[in-house]
Amino acid sequence: MTKYDSLAKHYLSRRQDKTRFDYNRDIEVPALIKFIGDVKGKTILDLGCGFGDHAQKLSKQKYKQLIGFDISKELVKFANEQKIPNSEFYVGDMSKKLKHKDSSFDIVYSSLAIHYLKNIDKLYKEVNRVLKKGGVFCFSTGHPIFNLINQTKKSMIGSEKTKSGKRIIYGNYFNEKPQLNSLGSLGKLKICNYTYETLIKTGLNNGFELIDYKDIKPTASSKKYDADKHRLTSTLPTFILFKFQTK
Ligand SMILES: C[S@@+](CC[C@H](N)C(=O)[O-])C[C@H]1O[C@@H](n2cnc3c(N)ncnc32)[C@H](O)[C@@H]1O
Repeated sequence: MTKYDSLAKHYLSRRQDKTRFDYNRDIEVPALIKFIGDVKGKTILDLGCGFGDHAQKLSKQKYKQLIGFDISKELVKFANEQKIPNSEFYVGDMSKKLKHKDSSFDIVYSSLAIHYLKNIDKLYKEVNRVLKKGGVFCFSTGHPIFNLINQTKKSMIGSEKTKSGKRIIYGNYFNEKPQLNSLGSLGKLKICNYTYETLIKTGLNNGFELIDYKDIKPTASSKKYDADKHRLTSTLPTFILFKFQTK
């Protein structure tokens, strides 16, 4: 059983709770949907699909087929229960070789999942293999700036000198080793805080071109849930989006 299996119900209800600010619903989900762009008639693979939130929203555009998988059985069960048209979800691990044929998708996307992998080189290679020529790989992950703040006990970034002249440095941008990350009321999970260099160069080294990028801000309407979190996430970006294209 994965951590997300035990969290599944809570994870789902938190997303649906219209009384509080939710980092996924109010920042990441709408931004990634918009960033992916037109999906009408496309074949799509969703890596780390969770309960199928993105798939459900994209399905309004009538894609040809969407396949999603996630390591959490519970979340996959919820995704299948939604009965999203032209979609299927299975339990799978994105750190392993993908079971799909070469050149079988127009779009591969992944929402806030790649940072759970200790090796993203293998994933980019696999994504490149299953994408058609000219196909796109879109993903969201933690923003390196926010990750750095999350790492520091003082919730701050940079360094300061004490009266004795000793320099204290908060966080380590270059530390990509797995470390515990707070998911608020969901507890803590180990993630890898990848640098811009790793996220970009791994794509360039694996047959992709970088064609778009975004620092995500929260939706304007989410201010009503929590003005303080809205201000924080409008000032310090929480998530980033990358779009790569196969050559
Ligand atoms: C932050 S959640 C995002 C889920 C979904 N994209 C959404 O927005 O609801 C991260 C997801 O990645 C999944 N995950 C973590 N490691 C994975 C792996 N190795 N293979 C597949 N899924 C994984 C988790 O089970 C979880 O559903």
